[in-house]
Amino acid sequence: MSCLKDKTDEQLLQEMQEKLQNILPPFEIKYKAELVSKIRQIKKKKNALILGHNYMEPALFHFVPDFQGDSLQLCRQAAQTQAPILVFCGVKFMAETAKILNPNKKVLIPSLEAGCSLAASITAEDVRRLKKRFPGVPVVTYINTYADVKAESDICCTSSNAKAVIEHLNSDTVIFIPDEYLSKNVARETGKHIIVPTKDLSKLNDNDVDYQIIGWPGRCEVHEKFSVQDIENVRKQFHNDVTVLAHPECSPEVVAASDFSGSTSAMIQFVKNTSAKRYLLLTECSMGDNIAAEAPEKEMVRLCSVRCPHMNQITLEQTLASLQNEIHEIKLEENIRKRAEQAVRKMLEIH
Ligand code: 13P
Ligand code: SF4
Repeated sequence: MSCLKDKTDEQLLQEMQEKLQNILPPFEIKYKAELVSKIRQIKKKKNALILGHNYMEPALFHFVPDFQGDSLQLCRQAAQTQAPILVFCGVKFMAETAKILNPNKKVLIPSLEAGCSLAASITAEDVRRLKKRFPGVPVVTYINTYADVKAESDICCTSSNAKAVIEHLNSDTVIFIPDEYLSKNVARETGKHIIVPTKDLSKLNDNDVDYQIIGWPGRCEVHEKFSVQDIENVRKQFHNDVTVLAHPECSPEVVAASDFSGSTSAMIQFVKNTSAKRYLLLTECSMGDNIAAEAPEKEMVRLCSVRCPHMNQITLEQTLASLQNEIHEIKLEENIRKRAEQAVRKMLEIH
């Protein structure tokens, strides 16, 4: 039985058709509109808040969340909410961050399997080893990590404030974990010298004292796939009439060959504020669809074999099931949560 029965549902379907007509076939829009309608009804009944990362698929991204954004924007929203139930349409480390900030609220994620290769690249024990090897050096931890790693850290950062966080610390040396490429891009931006040890720390040379950032060899399995050759191929294909944007989780070489680099929201903003007609987005493909839905006059060239398998686990069906049955709840040990909260809140204090 269809749940698209009242006027509001008809309006919703029409709105979805208008926005998504160039992205999805009509039957899919109709199917998704029914799911969106159900999610909205239950959300209202339960007084829940839904946050959606910029990588969510277009129907979910444009029609379900109360707030959309990059990691930092969603973290700030999570820190402000009064809602008793929060559904995080993003990956697990993001939902964990929301729980870190809201210990007394129910934080749900549509799929507990939605991981992240960066978060999986480092353990709390790894951080303890780094701290032992570099005593007294502050630990700056990318938000793409789990709560126990954040708990070992001095301060968190995201791709949009990494440089500001490092400059704020004003320390001769910092440990910056776990994204090798992000740390190298930040090192380049701040003019600091970086070393990236192996995971067992065995290849560290004690004579090498001329470094200001100590990195970690973690990589994003999506962004590490982009190459300078990809950029050159696309520039050639469009006779240089293409503006190239790269997320800072891409390699420094890819970032250097691009026209702009920034967080997911910074990339969206850049496209909105620029008059160029064609863009290559070196990031998760859904984001290109989301921008194309909003600005059909701008052509998004994407390398769509590159998807984040974790973000892609978050579907409308799973979001509905999680909210309806209050399943896939994030739980954290209080001692870990409390220590992680200090690192997250320290980041939030920086503007
Ligand atoms: P942003 O903070 O830029 O949204 O990045 C999150 C992420 O996981 C990118 O892969
Ligand atoms: Fe993690 Fe990369 Fe997926 Fe972002 S795109 S969630 S960094 S695996």
